[in-house]
Amino acid sequence: MSVMIENLNWEEINPQLDALLEEYHGDKSALIEVLHKAQEIVGYLPEPVQEKIADGLNVSLSDVCSVISFYSHFSTKPKGKYHIALCLGTACYVKGAPDIVDRLEKELKLKSGDTTDDGLFSLEMVRCLGACGLGPVMTINGEVYGLLSPDKAVTTLKEITKA
Ligand code: FES
Repeated sequence: MSVMIENLNWEEINPQLDALLEEYHGDKSALIEVLHKAQEIVGYLPEPVQEKIADGLNVSLSDVCSVISFYSHFSTKPKGKYHIALCLGTACYVKGAPDIVDRLEKELKLKSGDTTDDGLFSLEMVRCLGACGLGPVMTINGEVYGLLSPDKAVTTLKEITKA
């Protein structure tokens, strides 16, 4: 984990986080919004970023940790080499997306919102990807794959990682 954190470009990240915290200047009620924006900047929310946000908004680190663990959208690990975003919007949900989540979690041995220890895969649940007619839909590194079943999701993943 520490190796992954060292790979971040703090010289670029720190000024952006400073500007973000300056914008919200101690506004505790903005915690969730700031976490969202910080995750957009850094890609995830490692401990040094959590500490900086806690300081900047004048909230406790444990409050920051609670919010991060409550919302599956937030991640404390970097995205995997293959980042899977599975749609749980209504159309995909009713067409069987929950079964695909279960299957992918079992296959990859990880929970939604997490990254495998080898850094290869990460799994995220997202809202409508705008391709409802193709539901259930997932993206892998931004590429859309639709009309999925649990088996097809796993096969797609295997084909991509083989390539
Ligand atoms: S609900 Fe999944 S793409 Fe729209």
